[in-house]
Amino acid sequence: MALLPRKKRRKDPLGGNSPGGAMVKFKEIGIFLVERRMGSSRRSFLTELARKKGFRVEEQMSESVTHVVSENNTGDEVLELLEKQNGICSTGFTAALVDITWFTESMGAGRPLELENCHRLQVKRISAAAVIGTPISPYACQRRTTLNNKNRLFTDALKILAENAELCESEGRYLAFTRASSILKSLPYNMTRMDDLQGIPSLGDHSRKVIKEILEDGICSEVENVIQNERYQTLKLFTSIFGVGVKTADKWYREGLRTLDELRASKIKLTKEQTAGLLYYEDLNVPVTRAEADLIGQIVEAAIHRFLPTAVITLTGGFRRGNESGHDVDFLITHPEEGKEEGLIYQVISWMATQGLILYDDITENSYQKWKNQEPEKFDHFTKCFSIFKLKREPICNLELSRPSNHDCLAVNEIGRKGLADRAGTTQHVTAAAAGDKDWKAVRVDLIIAPFGQYAYALLGWTGSRLFERDLRRYAKHFKHMNLNSHSLFDNEQNKLLAAATEEEIFAHLGLDYIPPHERNA
Ligand code: CTP
Ligand code: MN
Ligand code: MN
Repeated sequence: MALLPRKKRRKDPLGGNSPGGAMVKFKEIGIFLVERRMGSSRRSFLTELARKKGFRVEEQMSESVTHVVSENNTGDEVLELLEKQNGICSTGFTAALVDITWFTESMGAGRPLELENCHRLQVKRISAAAVIGTPISPYACQRRTTLNNKNRLFTDALKILAENAELCESEGRYLAFTRASSILKSLPYNMTRMDDLQGIPSLGDHSRKVIKEILEDGICSEVENVIQNERYQTLKLFTSIFGVGVKTADKWYREGLRTLDELRASKIKLTKEQTAGLLYYEDLNVPVTRAEADLIGQIVEAAIHRFLPTAVITLTGGFRRGNESGHDVDFLITHPEEGKEEGLIYQVISWMATQGLILYDDITENSYQKWKNQEPEKFDHFTKCFSIFKLKREPICNLELSRPSNHDCLAVNEIGRKGLADRAGTTQHVTAAAAGDKDWKAVRVDLIIAPFGQYAYALLGWTGSRLFERDLRRYAKHFKHMNLNSHSLFDNEQNKLLAAATEEEIFAHLGLDYIPPHERNA
């Protein structure tokens, strides 16, 4: 097969004279003629012709080439040839791929014609850089990751290996597989060959091996083995119970437990959270739909506005990133007048509990002041409530938006720190849940209360994805010497906190392009 010309000596590619000796009239244009399907003699003839007319024609592909001209090739074929023969990586490729018609018309006109769409070769397999325009960053916060994942086959496999690593408490491997999966999610094309991985960072040997095997065999044996692995299956099952982490799941596994029924039948002492998690297990493992999230949003808003009509409620987490379903619903609550939000969570949860809307709640007090001067931790210190809602299947119509009655207000003062749902009759719902034919669904809801001054940081922190947040913080530390968390951004060089009223301002402080929520699905 006649391929592109082998490397030849390049003679003054940018200089005033073309190798043929004629004056170069159009210096800004650099032509490269693809030999494939054109043949070497026709290529030589066209080269001579063009040079005589003052065009610069390159013998080999280089950065100074602006027009890659070919005859009877598709754009994909030309790209593939260039990559193979000249090691031109998709990343950084800027020349136009054009059909011979542009060349002949330009020769006829005696000058380079403006490129029109009819001249351009269609490229179906779009290269990363051609679409993204810049090299791919190893930081998720510098990539745009929509929900349109073109590499699900690979990312699903890597996700299973990441999960397994997490269940083995191997943080390093968990991160490596998660990063590999995330970077593939951000690619604008679907990978069909190992060459497609050129110029892509964050892919370790192990991840590459997995991808290669899937490309060759359609599946990866390591992933298949993990899926069949008893420990993986059991720990995945146990950690899918609300309130159960890897350590607990592993302990139960080592004690010989394998199923939920065995767990239920065992004498193992469960926490209040785990008891609820097990009780509502089936419901909590059915994804929450957007319609359900919106409905809960209306309920939460109505409840909050009973007590604080000007409070602001924002849907965050996966739904804010555009997901159509999620494992829970996350809301961020604030008030423009800082301080007004204090105590609100108790009032709201208490009232909702009396309305029979709450199956479980666990309120955590704000610990920001206490924590502020210590080592920054993983998440945040907001007042929050991890809850389980009882979402009626029929429309909610009796939720009044009226001012709270005295009873509502009094209730607040009586409430202890935890366990509001106990007072509202969790026990009666226990029987209902067990009964099966119920007209409601248990849904996990997170309510986070943020003081107004920290709202933008809280919104950014609670919108996720987890890897996006992690990389934002990593980026801030490494490149900006700043500490970012869900409360604030601290500049270690100026030794001061940087205020922000919007997410855009936070990205600006970090010197990052703004990435909207639906592109944070890293
Ligand atoms: N988060 C946090 N502190 C926690 C839990 C979560 O800051 N204790 C942040 C994480 O950055 C996460 C976001 O809040 O990205 C939402 O968390 P979560 O509800 O667990 O995940 P989602 O992305 O919303 O996914 P899903 O839709 O499945 O709930
Ligand atoms: Mn969520
Ligand atoms: Mn959540």
